[in-house]
Amino acid sequence: MDMLAALRLQLDWGADEALDEAPRDRLSVVPAAAAVVPSVAAAPREVQPHPPPAQPVPVLRAQEIAAAAATLEDLRAALAAFDGCALAATATNLVFADGNPHAGLMLVGEGPGAEEDRAGKPFVGPSGQLLDRMLGSIGLTRQNYLITNLIPWRPPGNRNPTDAEVALCLPFLLRHIALVRPRHLVLLGALAARAVLGGTSGITRLRGTWRPAVIPGLPEPVPALPMLHPAYLLRTPSAKRETWADLRLLRRTLDGS
Ligand code: URA
Repeated sequence: MDMLAALRLQLDWGADEALDEAPRDRLSVVPAAAAVVPSVAAAPREVQPHPPPAQPVPVLRAQEIAAAAATLEDLRAALAAFDGCALAATATNLVFADGNPHAGLMLVGEGPGAEEDRAGKPFVGPSGQLLDRMLGSIGLTRQNYLITNLIPWRPPGNRNPTDAEVALCLPFLLRHIALVRPRHLVLLGALAARAVLGGTSGITRLRGTWRPAVIPGLPEPVPALPMLHPAYLLRTPSAKRETWADLRLLRRTLDGS
């Protein structure tokens, strides 16, 4: 029973995969900058989403590093070298983006799961396969969009990222969007939608309508369509009806009608 309890505890902590032959003491390699970052979720951001009033120093550092990236390759390299977010220490791979950065359409998910972490590519697991089928039904393949995530490293055990982790990763996502300059954004799930649009509304309220995303460095807001996350659709197939309406809206908008 004790052994089972110890295993259960590891699962609860997110140690749900054996990746190395020998155990590794992650605590001894987590960089100092990744220590506790104060929560920044308190301030509502309805009026001016970016940047929120007072930022903790690690977030300011993330903003500076992200702003210095002049190309997507710079940004990927900056993220790979970034030691300010503890998630990088437990992830197997950085998950940066997949698809076509010149397509004019950019999709933003929440964060990688186990398959994405192993492959180093976003949306390759079950929810990614569902997303591919849904987008395929309106004629879109990964040649027609770029796809990325708010969080580029898998949170252990697929737990939700903390407010501090979101605050640290958001400057990189915003820079990513500014460098790609998409004509349209699709925000998959509440976490991505709230991070990019600001505010605290739920995804069922946000979805179904194009909303302006204010992105630092871009002269105009980018029209953004929040949608239900495909992982939610896997758990709640009845919600596919709403998503089908959103996909038709996306198709009509891309067709210019
Ligand atoms: N869910 C996400 O939000 N992103 C991925 O890359 C995979 C699953």
